[in-house]
Amino acid sequence: MLPSLLFPLYSSSYLHQTSSDHILKDASPFPSDFLFGTASSAYQYEGAYLTDGKGLDNWDVFTHENPGKIADGNNGDVAVDQYHRFLEDIQSMKYLGVNSYRFSISWSRVLPKGRFGGVNHMGIKYYNNLIDALITNGIKPFVTLSHFDFPQIFENQFKSWLSPEMQNEFGYLADTCFKYFGDRVQHWITINEPNIQIGFGYISGMYPPSRCSMPYGHCTQGNSETEPFIVAHNMILAHAKAVQIYHTKYQKEQKGTIGIAVQTTWFEPISDSIADKKATERAQSFNFNWILDPIVYGKYPEEMVNILGSALPQFSSSEVKTLMNYKPDFLGINYYSSYFIQDCLITACTSGAGASKVEGYVLKLIQKGNVSIGEPTDINWLHNYPEGFRKMLNYLKDRYPNVPMFITENGLGDLQKPETTVKDLLHDTKRIRYVSGHLDALRSAMRDGANVKGYFVWSLLDNFEWSYGYTLRFGLFHVDFTTLKRTPKQSASWYKNFIEQHLNTGDLTFKR
Ligand code: BGC
Repeated sequence: MLPSLLFPLYSSSYLHQTSSDHILKDASPFPSDFLFGTASSAYQYEGAYLTDGKGLDNWDVFTHENPGKIADGNNGDVAVDQYHRFLEDIQSMKYLGVNSYRFSISWSRVLPKGRFGGVNHMGIKYYNNLIDALITNGIKPFVTLSHFDFPQIFENQFKSWLSPEMQNEFGYLADTCFKYFGDRVQHWITINEPNIQIGFGYISGMYPPSRCSMPYGHCTQGNSETEPFIVAHNMILAHAKAVQIYHTKYQKEQKGTIGIAVQTTWFEPISDSIADKKATERAQSFNFNWILDPIVYGKYPEEMVNILGSALPQFSSSEVKTLMNYKPDFLGINYYSSYFIQDCLITACTSGAGASKVEGYVLKLIQKGNVSIGEPTDINWLHNYPEGFRKMLNYLKDRYPNVPMFITENGLGDLQKPETTVKDLLHDTKRIRYVSGHLDALRSAMRDGANVKGYFVWSLLDNFEWSYGYTLRFGLFHVDFTTLKRTPKQSASWYKNFIEQHLNTGDLTFKR
């Protein structure tokens, strides 16, 4: 995940430093049905890329054909081999004491050729085994239907998400999954982070299908100023189709819920000027309101309509009807970091992340003067700023009242540098500081009235981190990428204690 297209350097001072022996001050308990979990995704975890009838997906082909686009030239052929090691991984979850696990379905494992090919029953068997083993161990499956990957055949045949055909394919995937797994799965996410998939797939071209135009990126095909909006339109309608199928055909009997997961970034105006404040609202509109406004209100944000004009597709009246009749049961919120925002619509900005039409003419900055938005980390798009998380949840509660939320991702990555030792990686106090600060902010937001029903750390294990390959580690468990051995980091035992204190005593005063 890289929220912006260009990245300024960070400085050493930052806005809201948290102390290393952070104490969670707010002792109010999470509700008894609150889900604590860890998150993952198929391509980043499973490996077994051609095993038991799986077809090639877009990430298989992209990484094989473009190793130069991945920091270490690697791919997810083996990843962390969860396909063969899920029983061991469930033991790691047991160690943590989590009551839920977020994973995604590999589309090309269950439907290698989409709706005109057959169901791959070995793929179905794998997910049945995984789901059953989770449930046997008291862990609720929290399932994403599509987390960036889909059968490559869709790209070759009809340019995947650029075509409305993808709505039908997605509906078929959803129906297939509800049919085979819905008797045991109570939480479904349709699409993971449309806004990120679009940004990297169709604006900068860093992810498949690598479509973009200058000056946004170097691609052989694509149009960064029009295609992102067509793709979003198809994703929004595909999401609605899946909700429609679930609500009309399965929900009554299966009694589960369905939502979508978006990437959220908190934005703060860099000054008190009206222009910067308006720009901040615009930045949000071009970020996740872009996706959530249509699925909650049936229309795109006003700021987008004004700036994009005819580049923004319109929903037909029957599409609006579908969106309004089949709203999500919850919102999945992935939050990592925040930015300062400077206006570029009224004030001329020469360059920088977002200062273009496709992101609403706003400049995204990680510093105000020499003060960073939060504690800097190994990666320049990620700052530890829990207060931004609290503000974000308040913003969401006000903009989308009455829609419950799950925090479907939150976590910190450590860059594998030449000098980094395994000992350094296991001694991950920075991650503990990050997660505890964000859990604290979460509880404050819940006290403010945000209706949040669960929290998932990204991620259970170190894994294949997209463009970073295996060089960026988000796991509570360290993975030796040669032997695939898993070892708990200090943050794993921290999270375990945190959950234990909550589940056993309801007392959330955190002690180390
Ligand atoms: C994605 C994950 C990714 C994480 C960390 C999120 O945008 O959903 O797949 O690993 O960020 O970058």
